[in-house]
Amino acid sequence: MSVQADIRRLTAPDIRARKGGAPIVSLTAYHAHTARLVDQHCDVILVGDSLGMVMHGMESTLPVTLEMMILQGQAVMRGSRRALVVVDMPFGSYEEGKETAFRSATRILKETGCGAIKLEGGSRMAETIRFLVERGVPVMGHVGLTPQSILALGSFKAQGRDRADWPAILDDAKAVAEAGAFSVVVEAVAEPLGRAITESVSIPTIGIGASPACDGQILVLEDMLGLTPRAPKFVKRYGDIGPSIAKAVEDYAREVRERTFPAPEHTYPERKPVA
Ligand code: KIV
Repeated sequence: MSVQADIRRLTAPDIRARKGGAPIVSLTAYHAHTARLVDQHCDVILVGDSLGMVMHGMESTLPVTLEMMILQGQAVMRGSRRALVVVDMPFGSYEEGKETAFRSATRILKETGCGAIKLEGGSRMAETIRFLVERGVPVMGHVGLTPQSILALGSFKAQGRDRADWPAILDDAKAVAEAGAFSVVVEAVAEPLGRAITESVSIPTIGIGASPACDGQILVLEDMLGLTPRAPKFVKRYGDIGPSIAKAVEDYAREVRERTFPAPEHTYPERKPVA
């Protein structure tokens, strides 16, 4: 029997049942060590394809591959025990058709052991979401600003600032919910639109730059820790760990150059021969 048998991970149905209830707390994580810290306080850990930009310095999420998502998904699963881990489907791994999406999603579920996948897109992805859900794949949707569409959108700007744009985005959220997704990320939309989406769909909305009325919130961990040089307007910096990392590295470099590190307590003394 597993030594972890007493700890039950949250599931997609647990999160689905939180509509209108206690806010769903979510953050991204890409590594085992950050997953361990995040797991203690969060209901959902997203292994987001933002890892391409945050970890690898890419200009967008487009170059991220299925293999990259699986590798970091495995790390996050090793580091966490309680939160529902959701792994993003990267650009190009699902848009072609529902069978392709199923193959990619099942690779993620089998090879990471995570509890759900996330994919971007509203009405245009509804058929694919339904196909996956009917075959046992829990799906988190993602509407509003969808960063994988950056080439078509032209920039990472907030969506639905004009009321005329609301119906299409509302329809997207409703289509995702009706197709069977267990929750939906609503990214960078005008606040009243985020509120209206939350009131219009039967599944929990997880806001990022959306509205405090959403059923939950998510941020990219490195953004809220102050580790990324530039962060969107919707990010609140809860920490500023960049300068403490820089200071630690500076101290280390100086002590190595001065030969004060390693000190005696960091070295192994010679074992004295037993008489
Ligand atoms: O990739 C990601 O980190 C995301 C969040 C911004 C929701 O999709």
